[in-house]
Amino acid sequence: MTMKSKTKIIIFGTGSGFEKVLEVIDLDKVEIVAILDNNESKQGTYLIGKKIDTPLNVHKYDYEYIIIASQFYNDICNQLINLGVNEKRIINILKVKTSSQLVQEIFIYNFAIKSIIKNEYLKSYIKNYAICNMNVLDKERNVRFYDYQDYLIKGIDYVRISSLELISREVYERQIEGAVAELGVYQGGFAKIINELFYDRKIYLFDTFEGFADKDVEYDDKHGFCKTKVGHLSDTNINIVLDQMKYKENCIIKKGYFPDTTDGLDNEVFAFVSIDADLYKPTYEGLNFFYDKLSEGGYIMVHDYNHSLYKGVKEAVRKFCNERRINFFPLSDYHGSAVIMK
Ligand SMILES: C[S@@+](CC[C@H](N)C(=O)[O-])C[C@H]1O[C@@H](n2cnc3c(N)ncnc32)[C@H](O)[C@@H]1O
Repeated sequence: MTMKSKTKIIIFGTGSGFEKVLEVIDLDKVEIVAILDNNESKQGTYLIGKKIDTPLNVHKYDYEYIIIASQFYNDICNQLINLGVNEKRIINILKVKTSSQLVQEIFIYNFAIKSIIKNEYLKSYIKNYAICNMNVLDKERNVRFYDYQDYLIKGIDYVRISSLELISREVYERQIEGAVAELGVYQGGFAKIINELFYDRKIYLFDTFEGFADKDVEYDDKHGFCKTKVGHLSDTNINIVLDQMKYKENCIIKKGYFPDTTDGLDNEVFAFVSIDADLYKPTYEGLNFFYDKLSEGGYIMVHDYNHSLYKGVKEAVRKFCNERRINFFPLSDYHGSAVIMK
């Protein structure tokens, strides 16, 4: 197993802010490579065993981020930028006041903060960050609002997962009948959550388990939707997927090329379907197949609708919706899902 190397940081400021920064950062995650201060009388003295250096020497250090431990954030930030430091490497942990600000910072800094500060601290800040008050136990399904704190910390798509959680609530509270399915399971990351939230529903898991198929790749290539390779995403198998599932007894694996794997489903209806096959043809075929089998009030979530690389997904959704005269809602999740409701 390879150990993730520590994030190298510089701390700028040695006053009371320095102590606060030390409280917040996780020393298992970071290596402090330097401490800087503008105060000449402090330069050359030692703090936590490190010699305090002048900011003029900032370029001598190999670092990923500079944390400003001072109330004079803007001045120091400008000073560093004038010294040629990339603004994206400058982080102000102490400025963060509210949970939503912290969440914004996590996204702005591309999860830099999560690689620096202690999980408990991160959690205490984002504890209240929810779109609405969902942190209640659903006794029937024994699920709490999906463990969004961990998902945020792990960098997994919070908006996608919280939307799925809300959709599942609608399905249960409005008693929408039917099984659930995912077309494009890969290693089961999203299917695992569907399985857990729809704890008492059959879940059909469609995938080639051999990655993208030649005819789908050719089609996207020919139409200029996406350039990819046959067999891309083949690093999976049925056991990898099943191992993740909490309710394995509900899982029905449909291995092979979709739509050739739809046999035996003539009498099935669906309450929720995730289509995440990346390419035009399976997306379009999937919409046609599942929409007809969707219960009234059921949902289809199509991942990657707004993905800049998989342009065939948007084409497929728009063509299908135009033909059927139906509408959809674009989500602001990572890669932009589209949600269709019947
Ligand atoms: C992006 S991955 C799915 C990721 C997964 N939903 C998740 O959230 O972790 C796309 C998957 O679609 C599958 N796929 C694409 N075209 C397919 C087709 N025509 N039939 C079956 N599976 C297909 C690929 O094999 C791949 O595993």
